[in-house]
Formats: sequence, structure tokens, C-alpha cells
Amino acid sequence: MSSEVPVWAVIPAAGSGSRMRQDKPKQYLEFQGKTVIEHCLDRLLSHPAIDGAVIVLHADDPIWNELAYHSNKTIFIADGGRERQHSVYSGLTTLQYRCGNDALALVHDAVRPLVNHDDLSRVIAAARAHTAGAILAATQNDTLKLQNDSMEIARTVPREGLWRALTPQVFHLQVLLNALRRIIDDDIAITDDAQAVELAGYSPALVAGNAENFKITTPGDLALAEKIWLNQRNQQDDE
Ligand code: C5P
Repeated sequence: MSSEVPVWAVIPAAGSGSRMRQDKPKQYLEFQGKTVIEHCLDRLLSHPAIDGAVIVLHADDPIWNELAYHSNKTIFIADGGRERQHSVYSGLTTLQYRCGNDALALVHDAVRPLVNHDDLSRVIAAARAHTAGAILAATQNDTLKLQNDSMEIARTVPREGLWRALTPQVFHLQVLLNALRRIIDDDIAITDDAQAVELAGYSPALVAGNAENFKITTPGDLALAEKIWLNQRNQQDDE
């Protein structure tokens, strides 16, 4: 609907990927003939509710320009920062400069190429309905153990009510900008964007998402991602 605020994907892709022990950052590893970040962009930019994307790249990014990625939707580029939170903040300021304050920022890791359209639709709808924004998250199926200093089980942690935060995480641009500015000014370490918004006193909504939308982190993850991607494509073909 044209009266709804636009939704822009903000994709932090400025990490160096040291955990992969590869010469390339993990968003540039390939499966099925495309890099991980191109798979992400294909999924995000083909969603009808997403108006465009801001991609946040490392100053010495070795590969993005070579990809010559094409989309009919607008893509802006922003400069990455020291930690993920600095990179996201940079992407948001670029979005604000280009499009003004009236937007939803859908922040999605460049290393989660398996997000599906149904989850995107549901998290965007929840963020439209919720001032504090909304995130995709997965429930815990395994029993959770807390360790002691000797790497023994200190106790079992009840898993009821516990969720694993995924991305996308969708917020009104100004809510997330203000929350991240405070985190950066106070030099607080956070591990996702919702945490900044929580520390600003808001309670973002939880939207149950598909656990297949996982973050590529180790070398073995790439083969798993390809398997899930092929499975998803076969399921689509069957529909
Ligand atoms: O390192 P981690 O797995 O948490 O990275 C999640 C996402 O954040 C990746 O897409 C990575 O490229 C991005 N990132 C970033 N700037 C940093 C660190 C990570 O854009 N300084």
C-alpha cells in the first residue's frame, strides 16, 4: 500500500570472517554459482514489500564491485565500522541521508542467505504494528546447560520462554538510530540490534522464524547452506 512507510534492507557486510579461516570474507564464499551476499540480496530484493537496500562494506572490500550485482531496486553503499554495531549505524545514517526518517530499517546479516519470503512478510507486518519493532527468532529445542569454571554442568537452564535471535530485525529508522547512537557513545558491546533497542527501554516483538535461516560462521556451514537452499528450491518447484 502506498500509504505505508517504505521498508529498506540494511545489510552489514563489513566483517572480515576470521572464523572461517578463508582468504575471503564469508559473505563472498560461493554456492550454486553465487556468493552468499548475492543469495541474500536475491531473497530480500525479490520481496514486494522491500523497497531497496543499503549494503555496508569494509573500506578495503576486495570483491563487491567485481560482482556487478544488478537489481531493479535501488542499492546504496555505506562504509563499515569497527564492530557490527558501527557498521549498522553507518548504514542507517546513509539511509536517513538518502530517504529521510520515514522508513522501516530491516537489518539482515549478509551471511544469512536462507531467509524466506513468508518470514520476511511476517516480521515486516509485526514491525509495522509495533513501535518497538520486531525480530525473527527461533525457539530452543535442546536442553540448555550452564557451565562452571571446570567445564562441568553447573545447572540446567529452563528453556521455556528462551529464544535465539535471528535476522532480519526490523525497526523504525529513528528508533534504531537513536538506540545505536547511545550504545556507541557509551561504548557498550551488543550482539544484535534488538539489544540496543531493549537498552533504550523498548520491548521489540518476537516473531517465530524458520531455523533454516542460520548464520554462516564456520567452513562446514557452507555445505549445509547449499543443501538447505536446494531443498527449498525443490519444495518451491513442487508447489
Ligand atoms: O561476525 P558476525 O558473524 O557477527 O557478523 C554478522 C554480520 O555483521 C556479517 O554480515 C558481517 O559482515 C557484519 N559485520 C559488519 N561489520 C563488522 C563486523 C561484522 O558489517 N565490523
